[in-house]
Amino acid sequence: MRNRRAALAAIAGAASLALTLSACGQNSEGGSKESEGDAKGGTIGIAMPTKSSERWIADGNNVKKDLESKGYKTQLVYGEDDPDQQVSQIENLITQGVKALIVAAIDNKSMNNVLQQAKDANIPVISYDRLILGTPNVDYYASFDNEKVGELQGTYIVEKLGLKDGSKKGPFNIELFAGSNDDNNTRYFFQGAMNVLQPYIDKKQLVVRSGQTKLNQVTTLRWDGGTAQKRMDDILTSAYKRERVDAVLSPYDGISIGILSALKSDDYGSKSKPLPIVTGQDAEVASVKSIIADQQSMTVYKDTRELAKVASNMVDALLNDKKPEVNDTKTYDNGSKVVPAYLLEPVAVDKSNYQKTVVDSGYIKESDLK
Ligand code: GAL
Repeated sequence: MRNRRAALAAIAGAASLALTLSACGQNSEGGSKESEGDAKGGTIGIAMPTKSSERWIADGNNVKKDLESKGYKTQLVYGEDDPDQQVSQIENLITQGVKALIVAAIDNKSMNNVLQQAKDANIPVISYDRLILGTPNVDYYASFDNEKVGELQGTYIVEKLGLKDGSKKGPFNIELFAGSNDDNNTRYFFQGAMNVLQPYIDKKQLVVRSGQTKLNQVTTLRWDGGTAQKRMDDILTSAYKRERVDAVLSPYDGISIGILSALKSDDYGSKSKPLPIVTGQDAEVASVKSIIADQQSMTVYKDTRELAKVASNMVDALLNDKKPEVNDTKTYDNGSKVVPAYLLEPVAVDKSNYQKTVVDSGYIKESDLK
């Protein structure tokens, strides 16, 4: 691409040469803003969903750091969970002439127009953690094995209840929570968990007393902990008059904390009424503390430092006319094409292995857990 563009530029004259080189991630001496300073590769736009969760703050900082160490400048923006705001932030980044975009979408279906603008400006797009749907203008996807995340959560529940090894037969009461319905990951997490749980539900060894078992009945808009707390409150009031809930499938730590608040207001966690098994995801500090305090049962650790590296390497490869490394070219059909992906492995974490997994690896500082 660089050669073809350089040839075109030679015809079009010096002004367009400067533009063209900069569009290909090169420096053009004394040229546009992006080519100033140390930014030999130009500026990369990073659009993250929200600062309300610590993981996305870490994701943004890690991607920024990795790209800057490769000689790029960065523009990091947060959409505060507002899809319209995120779209206009990305429009801005395109206008500013970024050389590539890394996007963790708020609403995976809201990006069609803005990514067409990116395409028209020859800006490659990496879908970060969450797959962007319904547009061919997504070049690569960097994420984790999302179905495996759900499988780890489901497996934890059936193991801890003693159903898996057959030491207990149940029936046990379980309630199901899923993530935001506008996040493509939600259905993968839920599907993964249900792959494990459904056979026990079918055999009535697990009973969902609320009757809410379909994905569209159990989603939590924008992954909001307060929304989950309210739903758990309602379920406890309507479906658990005398009975107890034994397990709650929660897809994400922020949701788990909301669920635990509802449970504690209903006296769970007291001597006579133990807390149910509650799963989670992201290994956020509040949840790891909750695990240490025997409240939340587990979380799924996804090393977002590695995810940031994968995404930064993809950008660097693309801007240097190399093929980014991928390890999955089948799973992630976004409705318009199968997006080539690099998927990392999630790890189940509970009280027995948090030290080894999240502390010894430096993901969380021991002092933050005090
Ligand atoms: C998902 C992500 C999860 C969790 C959730 C809420 O897209 O894969 O790890 O962070 O968003 O932020």
